[in-house]
Amino acid sequence: MCGIVGYIGAREAYPIIINGLRRLEYRGYDSAGIVLNYPGSNELIKTKGKVADLEEKSKGKQLNANIGIGHTRWATHGEPNDVNSHPHLSNDGRIMLVHNGIIENYEPLKIQLKEYGFTFESETDSEVLANLIQYFKSKENLSLTEAVRYALNEVVGAYAIAVMDNESSDEIVVARLGSPLAIGLGEDEFFIASDASPFVEFTKDAIYLEDGEMATITRGEEVIVRKIEGNEIVSPAIQELQIGLEQIEKGGYEHFMLKEINEQPKSILDTMRGRLLPEEGLIRMAGIWDHKEKFYNAKRIIIVACGTSWHAGLVGEYLIEEFARIPVEVEYASEFRYRNPIINKDDVVIAISQSGETADTLAALKLAKDKGAFIYGICNVVGSSIARLTDAGSFTHAGPEIGVASTKAFTAQLTVLTLIALKLGNHNGNLTTERYRSLCYELMNIPQLVEKALESNDIIKEIAAKYKDSENALYLGRGYNFPTALEGALKLKEISYIHAEGYPAAEMKHGPIALIDENMPVIVIAPKKGHYDKVVSNIQEIKSRKGKIIAVVTEGDVQVRDLADYVIEIPDCSEEFSPILATIPLQLLSYHIAVMRGANVDQPRNLAKSVTVE
Ligand code: AGP
Ligand code: GLU
Repeated sequence: MCGIVGYIGAREAYPIIINGLRRLEYRGYDSAGIVLNYPGSNELIKTKGKVADLEEKSKGKQLNANIGIGHTRWATHGEPNDVNSHPHLSNDGRIMLVHNGIIENYEPLKIQLKEYGFTFESETDSEVLANLIQYFKSKENLSLTEAVRYALNEVVGAYAIAVMDNESSDEIVVARLGSPLAIGLGEDEFFIASDASPFVEFTKDAIYLEDGEMATITRGEEVIVRKIEGNEIVSPAIQELQIGLEQIEKGGYEHFMLKEINEQPKSILDTMRGRLLPEEGLIRMAGIWDHKEKFYNAKRIIIVACGTSWHAGLVGEYLIEEFARIPVEVEYASEFRYRNPIINKDDVVIAISQSGETADTLAALKLAKDKGAFIYGICNVVGSSIARLTDAGSFTHAGPEIGVASTKAFTAQLTVLTLIALKLGNHNGNLTTERYRSLCYELMNIPQLVEKALESNDIIKEIAAKYKDSENALYLGRGYNFPTALEGALKLKEISYIHAEGYPAAEMKHGPIALIDENMPVIVIAPKKGHYDKVVSNIQEIKSRKGKIIAVVTEGDVQVRDLADYVIEIPDCSEEFSPILATIPLQLLSYHIAVMRGANVDQPRNLAKSVTVE
């Protein structure tokens, strides 16, 4: 997913935009560019590669303008190269545009514009929009705002855009549909960005555009927000940002991922804050309570998500069916949206998404909404598209997750799902008050247990050093920890590039056991509570075939310790809460292996933090 940054005010735009692009690097990108707007001219610099490459290319250029826009690109149309990088100019060189998203009907528009005599330098969909804006501006003699609006009404697709016109160096026009865009409101200056991190040090006041909205940002004037369709002026909500710059910096850790792994006691506690009140014997979830009839009458809960969030959904299935006895189905959002699913009006559809911008999850949710289901969101980003689409939701208060590999968001998602399952189970009587309160008190203590699980870091580094050159790995778990095994495998493969697979431990005999030899590390999740004896049998099967066994065990375990090559201890807890604890060593194992292999831990190759394109 790419990033957009813009500035208009009294200061030099270049350093603000470049630093802003650097703050957005975590979103994953392949190219970067910037254009500065001067009366009668512009300074356009863009390149395949990193922001550092862009800075290199900027040396010696005129960089003192106080209005400009910048972009980090995640290519969808046209390979990553200098020409396809943004910003794009219109044929007459006046319109300057950056775009995040996909223009699905760019080909017919491009054909039409070619018939009008337009030419194109790049293969991108975005350049078509730059020329379409020129077309309307010149043909209809429109203002920049109107020309952008006319052009966007011709567009089918998803976008966040920032546009300037060389005819006026006093305004930037922005618009969004399906991709995020925020406007930072400073003292006589404005900031534009895909999220708040590029401007949070300058202002805490921001406008998050809604889908289908655009804004005209003019030097020294109020921001004017209007509907793209219909042109109706809207009064935007000004949000006070909840994040500080320090949250975004690495906080002394080598990588954002390690910082975020270690933040989990706090992020889990923050996620429970104000919601879990065991001394009052209750869980307060406004998103659930305000719509309790939807949940209590639900015949079925469908969870849609991708990647790690999908793994969280699988744990949610076990939790909700165990505590509340409501049937749950967990769907890959990308499959759900295209298979014409049966969705009933009394279904509750829950979307789980850290970024709140994942295209497949957003589309699956829109499908459910169109079919009349009640839609609920579990997101980590306030103001995100999924958060805004849903009828209600519960934010995971994990704070910004910068590392591409999701860690603290995952355990925060599990925390929210646990709270929901407990609340539903208590209300519909499937949980006795005594068991409900006991589980609430135990859950309250989970952050301390996570703190303890993090203490295994040194033994995990030792294990990582031993297995960092493995070519394959198997992760096994049963019950609640089958999804934990899937998640552990995903962590390893996405940051260390080692092929890893997660399986239900009982599935070994149906094929995977053929893979076991002395070169295959098998990570087995074997907590005391959770089919322990069965898992021990699986471990014995692996051992008899010379597999190398790394077992996550409950502290004090001796039986598995005698069988495994390595054990990593986690504190004892109820099986229902064990995924939160068992995932910690798996996160650390993948992190240390990746670091030892010299991989780019925070920005693994080919991956983006948020997949906002299909
Ligand atoms: C997880 O480590 C990956 N970064 C990826 O699988 C991610 O979970 C997936 O893309 C879903 O993202 P979301 O939670 O922001 O929707
Ligand atoms: N679709 C545009 C392109 O490929 C923008 C992609 C992005 O979101 O960075 O250039």
